[in-house]
Amino acid sequence: MHKREQGSRVKIVSTGFYAPEKVLTNADLEKMVDTTDEWIVSRSGVKERRIASAEQATSDLCIEAARRALRNGHFKVEDIDLIIVATASPDTIFPSTACWVQEGLKADHVAAFDIGAGCTGFLYGLILAESLILSGVSKRILLIGGEVLSKITNWKDRATCVLFGDAAGAAVLEESRDDSGILSHYWKADGSLAGLLFQPAGGTRMPASVQTVAGDLHYIQMKGNEVFKHAVKRMGESAVEALKRAGLRKEDIRWFIPHQANTRIIDATAERLQVPPEKVYVNIQRYGNVSVACIPICLHELHVAGKLKKGDIILLDAFGAGFTWAAVAYRW
Ligand code: UT7
Repeated sequence: MHKREQGSRVKIVSTGFYAPEKVLTNADLEKMVDTTDEWIVSRSGVKERRIASAEQATSDLCIEAARRALRNGHFKVEDIDLIIVATASPDTIFPSTACWVQEGLKADHVAAFDIGAGCTGFLYGLILAESLILSGVSKRILLIGGEVLSKITNWKDRATCVLFGDAAGAAVLEESRDDSGILSHYWKADGSLAGLLFQPAGGTRMPASVQTVAGDLHYIQMKGNEVFKHAVKRMGESAVEALKRAGLRKEDIRWFIPHQANTRIIDATAERLQVPPEKVYVNIQRYGNVSVACIPICLHELHVAGKLKKGDIILLDAFGAGFTWAAVAYRW
């Protein structure tokens, strides 16, 4: 246990991300399924996405993102004491992807585990990391959100294959020495709606078999328009609650960083919050929906572009399979 001061906060001290080099454009997809660039852009906002190579597993993307986050913060692997990986596309059902990452980083002194909360996983991880640091269990945590969704995507299903991409984002977290850091959070789940977005086969509910593979049941299945309605409702709810808990007004928000599933979901949530477009960060056009990697990549891009100023209020907001949803109010 580490000593901590009363009333202290937890902050992100470094970020990094990695996206595979291979770019798959909407023009490429037009040759693979019955779709058009116009449909994909107008319905989702995605223009291109990155695709992992045959050799790359989720942990490989996570390891590279983690190395970059450590390097950007001038940390050595020895400086961290816990690895948390959020993912919906683990290397293996067991052991956890975090253990594959730990081995890759040669971080044999740390504990490592995964959290599964769909696309909300990075925010669930942030909330968990905050409490682990504030309670003295951990001092410095490496939190990674990584996905290789391309390997659990049905490339014959135009309703899903145009949406997702592969990437990983990482952050190093520690106790804050000033008033910056996590101000509040709100997190919830509703397992009764699990069947609207899930990977049916491969677990103990429906073990992998010749039949499940023949039926494409090991791929992501999503009732997109149903998910859409819940995402708009729940992301609005999360944002409002996190702001309220931090005692903030919508005018205080400098950056709204939503999960990047669909520009129409982002626009509807921003409209509900009355946050103007220039305060909303959107990069879905370049990466697609990279699930847990969306928010750390947005944070990293804003940071390196010099757009995050000390004291800026940031609202992070996500929704994903489960369903799960969460928001975090943060002072940079
Ligand atoms: O990250 C976790 C959370 N995930 C989300 O939040 C995703 C939420 N859902 C969505 O973003 C949207 O529902 C989609 C982008 C997936 C789909 O947009 P939509 O406006 O809800 O379309 P839809 O599913 O209602 O489909 C409309 C039409 C259908 O044709 P008909 O039945 O009207 O003739 C689809 O078959 O569009 C058709 N369609 C396509 N057409 C061209 C579906 N996919 C495609 C496609 N290209 N790729």
